[in-house]
Amino acid sequence: MKTTHYKRTSRPAPSRELAKLRARLAEADETLRAIRSGEVDSVVVAGKQGPQVFTLEGAEHAYRVLIESMNEGALTLTTDKTILYANQCFARMVKCPLEQVMGSSFRRFLPVEDRAALRSLLKRAGKSGSKIQVLLNAGDGSHTPVQISIRPLTKNGFNGATIGMVLADMTEARRNEEMLRALTHRVVQLQEAERGRVALELHDNITQLLCAILFRSQALADKLSARDGPAKKEAAKLRELLGEAAEEVERISRNLRPSVLEALGLVAVLRAAGTEFADRTGVAVKLACVQLPAPLPAGTELALYRILQEALKNVEKHARARHVTVCLRLRGAFVQLAIHDDGIGFDPDHHPAGRKGKGGLGLLSMRERASYVGGTLKIKSVRRAGTKIEVRIPLPPNATTAD
Ligand SMILES: Nc1ncnc2c1ncn2[C@@H]1O[C@H](COP(=O)(O)OP(=O)(O)OP(=O)(O)O)[C@@H](O)[C@H]1O
Ligand SMILES: [Mg+2]
Repeated sequence: MKTTHYKRTSRPAPSRELAKLRARLAEADETLRAIRSGEVDSVVVAGKQGPQVFTLEGAEHAYRVLIESMNEGALTLTTDKTILYANQCFARMVKCPLEQVMGSSFRRFLPVEDRAALRSLLKRAGKSGSKIQVLLNAGDGSHTPVQISIRPLTKNGFNGATIGMVLADMTEARRNEEMLRALTHRVVQLQEAERGRVALELHDNITQLLCAILFRSQALADKLSARDGPAKKEAAKLRELLGEAAEEVERISRNLRPSVLEALGLVAVLRAAGTEFADRTGVAVKLACVQLPAPLPAGTELALYRILQEALKNVEKHARARHVTVCLRLRGAFVQLAIHDDGIGFDPDHHPAGRKGKGGLGLLSMRERASYVGGTLKIKSVRRAGTKIEVRIPLPPNATTAD
């Protein structure tokens, strides 16, 4: 076992003092070299209460080699966040020589606003450990987004060192997240444009055609006399079915391009969507919508309408719910839409909308639509207890607000 320590001495002669300082410097150099190579099992840190010795009992060279070859930064800290040990990767992250990292305070690598967050996290971390994302200040003034995993260390490992940290560079992950967001945004835009085109085709061509056939079938039914018996009945049936088909096409066209938003307003359109959903699926829908004092911006209304459509689609497809509640409220400077079902629920962590979603686009596009108009989307779901989708969008500055 090798230890280094400082001694308090009576005032020596200058040349002796210089020699001593040189010796101490050489010793410190040697200590750092030994720490890095894994030969040493103790470190001395000069603190407010004088020098403190930190020992690593039973340190294994293999662990050192492993930690040095990691692609993540690794640190051990004292409770006052003095860095006892850092691997080369951490030194590269903060663009600082390792010698200057060890023995210094971890706080210097954190922006002021993240220090308090880390402090409270360390308090909460207790025995189990936890994670936080921060921007790391590098020596050259640049910033690196990192995820810090914090683990309190047992006394059996590092004697006196109580915190272990692993720092993963999130630059690449952030870039991928940004790309995914941009891609989803583009998909949503294209989807909207495509829906508009299809709606127009349906309205201008198919509905017109169906109306013409309907008119003709009506004329045919009128021409047939009671003597034609079954044929007249058939013609009447045909006219009825054509009427239903025309209505269905109109409904699809309306859903694809909600031009009715402008004509009827958001609340009426949300009501119509809820009623149509309840009639078609048999799931009871309760609507609690406040009357808005003024129309919302067109983008906000469209986002809310599309989010409701997507949420109802999910209820129909996945939830096996019996009841759905749709609630539109004004909350201070926000408009809030909540869609709550009492279905089977799911684990949102396995479908984190906007992150590593498995396959489906629904949740992702809901989040994207909300964020495009400056809003946020929350998903709360509990297995066998249902799902709540809550979207909040800021109102324009001059809008009247109520609670
Ligand atoms: N209300 C809900 N109740 C139960 N599970 C749900 C609900 N909403 C979403 N899910 C679950 O979350 C998953 C992701 O939903 P998402 O809408 O993103 O995709 P999808 O519905 O599978 O596909 P898409 O929306 O692209 O047609 C679903 O596959 C389902 O397992
Ligand atoms: Mg879906």
